[in-house]
Amino acid sequence: MTAVVRVQRNDRLTADEVIEVLDLMRAAGDADGAYPLSEHVVLHLRHGGGDVRAVHLLARHDGRLVGYAHVDTTDPVEGASAELAVHPLHRRRGLGRALVTEAMAVADERAGGSAPGRLRLWAHGDHPSASALSLSLGFERWRVLWQMRRSLRTPISEPALPHGVSLRAFRPGSDDAAWVALNAAAFASHPEQGKWTIDDLHVRMKEPWFDPAGFLLAQRDSDGELLGFHWTKIHGAAPGAGEASEHAHEPIGEVYVLGVAPSAHGTGLGTALTLAGLHHLRSQGLDQAMLYVDESNTSAVALYRKLSFARWVTDVCFRRQV
Ligand SMILES: CC(C)(COP(=O)(O)OP(=O)(O)OC[C@H]1O[C@@H](n2cnc3c(N)ncnc32)[C@H](O)[C@@H]1OP(=O)(O)O)[C@@H](O)C(=O)NCCC(=O)NCCS
Repeated sequence: MTAVVRVQRNDRLTADEVIEVLDLMRAAGDADGAYPLSEHVVLHLRHGGGDVRAVHLLARHDGRLVGYAHVDTTDPVEGASAELAVHPLHRRRGLGRALVTEAMAVADERAGGSAPGRLRLWAHGDHPSASALSLSLGFERWRVLWQMRRSLRTPISEPALPHGVSLRAFRPGSDDAAWVALNAAAFASHPEQGKWTIDDLHVRMKEPWFDPAGFLLAQRDSDGELLGFHWTKIHGAAPGAGEASEHAHEPIGEVYVLGVAPSAHGTGLGTALTLAGLHHLRSQGLDQAMLYVDESNTSAVALYRKLSFARWVTDVCFRRQV
């Protein structure tokens, strides 16, 4: 049954609205088995939206929030990017279509109105409903991201570092600028990761889960130059510390970001860094590790497969054909 749906557009959310949105997202995540917002969107919501040019689309039924879309308009090259979910009890009533149609209107306005604006939709979990909705509105399946997992209870090989390279923990403050440069070099061709600024790093360093002991740096002994890093993260470790709202599960370790400087590619450093991080996560009492990788990044997928990771869930990005 399709009803007339009114979608409200907000530049900011109040603290109460943020709670409503996170409750709605948790209900959708519980029903679908995949949380519908990505980490950076949750961070921006919890930190009051910061200076991000985000547009919030809210659909209500009898005053209750039943649909939400987050439209990020900060990337003038790729265009706007949206994530959305409809409450499981309010689906197939036109809410998803109304939210995406409004997100398309936002994208058109940001593009100047003379031509359709670029817009990407992220579907976490690759549900048939997301595909059907996106394709019916003229989007194409564009990028596919895998979440991979492995047990930490099975044997983990010892890391074998290249000669003259050693590992140490990240030092907040003194390593910040060098790490941002290393990350940009390691992810020069990556659409999102390579663009991180010092501010992007600092936002994460303020998170309750941030722990420099799990942020490993590889440096050349002769001159201290940073050659690679493995930033691990623990999800759901500290109930009440802010993670509980979107992670109602046993703690799990993540290969959060792994990067190697182009000059050190092919030396086995990526494997050694991954193994060292897995040992660290196991030493924290964790049973499982997970990571995200682009399906098209065949060398990274091969590395993780070799280290016993297997595909767990798939996220898909749909792109509007303009
Ligand atoms: C995807 C989602 C937002 C759709 O919300 P919705 O309010 O149920 O969607 P609508 O009622 O507007 O459906 C619009 C069209 O999408 C298609 N569609 C939606 N759900 C479908 C399903 N389960 N099976 C087949 N087609 C479906 C249909 O073509 C539908 O039109 P119809 O009902 O006239 O046949 C919702 O299922 C959801 O929250 N999923 C989890 C989060 C997610 O995947 N978000 C990413 C979306 S790109």
